[in-house]
This record gives sequence, structure tokens and C-alpha cells, in this order.
Amino acid sequence: MEEIKRRVAEAAAEQVKDGMTVGLGTGSTAYWAIRKLGERVKEGLNVKAIATSSRSESLAVEFGIPLVTFAETDVLDVTIDGADEVDPALNLIKGGGGALLREKIVAAASRRFVVVVDDTKRVDRLGAFPLPVEVVTFGAEATKRALESLGCASRFRMADKCEYVTDNGNFILDCDFGLIREPEPLAQAINAIPGVVDNGLFANMAHVVMVGCGDGSIVVM
Ligand code: 5RP
Repeated sequence: MEEIKRRVAEAAAEQVKDGMTVGLGTGSTAYWAIRKLGERVKEGLNVKAIATSSRSESLAVEFGIPLVTFAETDVLDVTIDGADEVDPALNLIKGGGGALLREKIVAAASRRFVVVVDDTKRVDRLGAFPLPVEVVTFGAEATKRALESLGCASRFRMADKCEYVTDNGNFILDCDFGLIREPEPLAQAINAIPGVVDNGLFANMAHVVMVGCGDGSIVVM
């Protein structure tokens, strides 16, 4: 599996061209893209990057990729990131690694959003993977109840017996909505709840999804 992730992520990182500003995704697949980009920087590629999490920021520093902020950059040329599920219309569930908010901000600011996954992430309909929703800590139980009124069962994500806290100081509620018929209206309904910061449905955002397959091939959706 690691080899499949590495191959597809490196193929995406090979597409980055000199002078580009690149969004660095988060997770075990995005890791390989960051690593490859770092190798290319050492070989002379001139890029700047914005990371979608403190973990990916640390990787960028480790691999020698120059970082910039949104104060210096308004548009990114390309973002390479993983996903937890991908449907045939390229809608995604993201946030398994807890970085959905920064991932969505960076993807939305990118001319091209390239998603790299192994073929276990492809589904006919989103929703087997619980949808991560980032909520502010104040009133989080009230926000949980309001979310559940939309028709899900939810639980706070935990880490070491405490609520998991995102890079932005918020909690994550993992929400089981069952199979999701219409991602976009659901994403809007969730984000209309006071206390919700954002959710892991990325509807109509990916420009291309590269799928690494067990036989070594890469399918481009
Ligand atoms: C992090 C994410 C990741 O991209 C997603 O969880 C996929 O991760 P991995 O490549 O490790 O399976 O959305 O918030």
C-alpha cells in the first residue's frame, strides 16, 4: 500500500514546474508528494509552498521546501493532497487527518487541485467514511446536537483520552450520515450551523484525481 501511495504522489509531484507556488496536503499519501518535491528542490527546482497543517509544514522544513504565507501569495498554482473518499464526480471526503479546514482554504485558493489516492478510496457514493466536521470548542455539545438534527450520529474525535484539537484550536466531530446523496447541499446545511467552522465535504473542488492501483498503473479521473 505504501508503495502505491508513493508512486501516485510522486507522479503528481513530478508535474510541478519551476516558479510555481504549491499547496502541500496532509496525510500519508501527501507525505510522499512533499518528500519528492523536496528532492526536486535539492536538484534545483524553484518553488514556494503553503502547507495545510503543522505536520506538513514541519515536513517542508525538513525537506528544504521554502514556505510562504497568504500575506505574500494570493493564488497557488497547484495543490497536491490526499482524500479519504472520492466519488465518480470527484467529490471528496477529507479530514481523516484532522486538517480539513486548512486543506479547504488552500485548495480553494489553488488554480489546480490535484488529489492523490490509492484505489481503496474510490466509492460510488460518499459516506462510508464518517464525515469530519470542525467545530469551535465553545458550545461544542450544542453544535453536536444541531448537527445530529440533520440526520447523523456523531462523536468527538479523541486523542489520548481527550478531545482531539486541530491546528486551529477546534474540535472534530466525526459524523455518520450514511451514504450521502447530495454532497453540496449537505455541506451547506452543515456549515450554516452556528459553531461549525467547516466540514470535510469537498464538493466540485478537485480538478483531477490520480488513483494509484495495485498493478502499478495510475488512473486519472
Ligand atoms: C487529512 C486528509 C488526508 O488527505 C486524508 O485523511 C487522506 O490521508 P491518507 O493519505 O493518509 O490516507 O484529509 O486531513
